[in-house]
Amino acid sequence: MFHAHPGLKNPEYYVPGLPADYVAQRYGIAPDDIAKLGSAENPYGASPKARAAVADALDRLHLYPPWTAEPLREKIADTYGYQPDQVVCGAGETEIISLVIRALCEPGGKVMMPAPCFPIYHLFAEAEGRMPVLVPDATLRPAMALDPEAYAAAIDPDTRIVFITNPHSPSGTWLEEAEVRRMVEAAPHALVVLDEAYVHYSDTPGYIHLAGEYEHLIVLRTFSKAFGLAGLRIGFGVAARPIIDALLAVKPTWNMGQLQIAGGVAALDDREHVARTVSTIVEARHHVQGRFGELDRFRMVPGSRSNFFLVEILDPDTDSTEVFNGLLERGVIVKDGAVSWRGLDDRFLRCDVNFTERMDRLVDSLADMD
Ligand SMILES: Cc1ncc(COP(=O)(O)O)c(C=O)c1O
Repeated sequence: MFHAHPGLKNPEYYVPGLPADYVAQRYGIAPDDIAKLGSAENPYGASPKARAAVADALDRLHLYPPWTAEPLREKIADTYGYQPDQVVCGAGETEIISLVIRALCEPGGKVMMPAPCFPIYHLFAEAEGRMPVLVPDATLRPAMALDPEAYAAAIDPDTRIVFITNPHSPSGTWLEEAEVRRMVEAAPHALVVLDEAYVHYSDTPGYIHLAGEYEHLIVLRTFSKAFGLAGLRIGFGVAARPIIDALLAVKPTWNMGQLQIAGGVAALDDREHVARTVSTIVEARHHVQGRFGELDRFRMVPGSRSNFFLVEILDPDTDSTEVFNGLLERGVIVKDGAVSWRGLDDRFLRCDVNFTERMDRLVDSLADMD
């Protein structure tokens, strides 16, 4: 008989957005007619430069990649003003999050996060036998934005890891640099993780420079969003060397394949793809905000600087699961707050920002349910 460790007694798994093919088949809708607004993917697809580099890298499939993904590490270091030994690469940010929890918090140690937040933080903390501490009072309605003072106040002397997401998920709300510094400085005894997965959509350079200032901070980024490489699986963390050294020690040795390394290096040079994506999202976000004014039963939670936003259901006679299913029947996929996040409930849906036509489709479908 095997013995799984106690964190795995009742394992829980991530609930992803539904795939378009599944919805098309189930509801008899043409796949091209599906508005997929539940996975925060890039509407333009992958960076063309990354696609070409991945095709070239096929010639190297028989070779082991460098175990630290060195060419990608060097490119990231060069792009953001760090040394390669201050960078760790992973199969998406998701892998880096798992490494951070394993390497930088002992079993039973406290891992702090706002509620609601990206569920991977607490799913991995639990699966690894660490103790997730969700702080609900720091994300208050109706704004659903993180309150830096309340969050800083919740940091205990025995907190080991403090997660901050900016823009926040699922609300998309934004923290100013002084607010992030305030929380980082409130946890000198812990590791602070600043997750900037969606930072491009804020149309700012973000706060990756802070990793050079604070020895207890790691900044995480992904290639899954603005670079359009969610299917390739690339993410990275930037931090002081002792943090990176610890992560390298627990990292599955060859976690990054030749295709990921090649695609990541090329994507970082594809400024055009990122710029086009960001400007489309920023414009569509503005457009959909205007259109929500037409709806009585739904409210767009304002303040998103990301490629998604929360919709609050104002009508007490319906709930998020009913609206979620009603949208599916109309070929629109979003995320149901009742099942996708701890600390969110059946009053909320999360919807992606995508092409303007798809935003119209979302608003028209919500209006149609009136
Ligand atoms: C807040 C946040 N962080 C990190 C990620 C992880 O992205 P990936 O593992 O694709 O890099 C996601 C993905 O949805 C996210 O929402």
